[in-house]
Amino acid sequence: MIETIADRYSVERAKWDAHAHTASGPIKPLPPEADFDWHCDRDHLMPGVREFLGDLRGRRVVEYGCGLGSLTVLLARSGAKVSAFDLSESSVEVARERARTMGLGDRVEFTVAPGEDLPYADASFDIAFGKAVLHHLEPVAGARELSRILRPGGRAAFSEPLGTNPLVAFARDHLPYPNKHERGADIPLRREDIAAWTRPFAAAQLRGVQLFSMVERGLGFGRRIEPLRYIDRELLERHPGLWPLCRYGVLTLTR
Ligand SMILES: C[S@@+](CC[C@H](N)C(=O)[O-])C[C@H]1O[C@@H](n2cnc3c(N)ncnc32)[C@H](O)[C@@H]1O
Repeated sequence: MIETIADRYSVERAKWDAHAHTASGPIKPLPPEADFDWHCDRDHLMPGVREFLGDLRGRRVVEYGCGLGSLTVLLARSGAKVSAFDLSESSVEVARERARTMGLGDRVEFTVAPGEDLPYADASFDIAFGKAVLHHLEPVAGARELSRILRPGGRAAFSEPLGTNPLVAFARDHLPYPNKHERGADIPLRREDIAAWTRPFAAAQLRGVQLFSMVERGLGFGRRIEPLRYIDRELLERHPGLWPLCRYGVLTLTR
């Protein structure tokens, strides 16, 4: 039973520490051209992120919930000065080793910390980024911290699972499907969570991703279904108000 923030942390730590031990294999080399923009162009769950965040060279970037560090090294390769944190100490160890092995150790500072209580000074960062992490945090405290550590005018982008479509929520909670992860204390973002995350910011936008193409995940085809991705892109571009039906969303915030 998860009642307090301490319960939440202990469930999440146990889950992600165990994951770090089982999922961390040998560190795979990246192609020489691989950086954050390169990744954004290939990750269909991150539309608009590179355009919104802009050129990362020389920027102070904080990465939320860095996990095993696969995106951390890409941020560093794009020329950002990266501070990355995660609640899971074992994940941070793997991420630190990845950055060191790739010769990026001096471009990334790693910290074990919860996103609701961060050891960074006020207005320390130009940019915040996170993939699949906000929905693990308590939104009111998390938003307060995010707004505190971003400088005025600073930007944040997060790609997150949404909990706004009841059918998707039902499938997550009750249906078996391939590669389904065991749930921790995470709650895919509901309307009230999104409201809490956006409240302290001057501007906010949510862009839906994966409407019809969510069957790629749910039915476990394990491959891209390009026509559905195309329909999603076109439909969501023309009718952005359909975002609550989507499986995922990109939340962008300006301080
Ligand atoms: C789904 S994983 C995503 C990891 C990474 N962003 C990626 O895309 O590979 C969620 C991560 O959030 C971390 N996490 C969970 N609760 C957290 C909290 N309160 N503060 C910071 N990190 C947290 C977990 O330890 C885990 O590494």
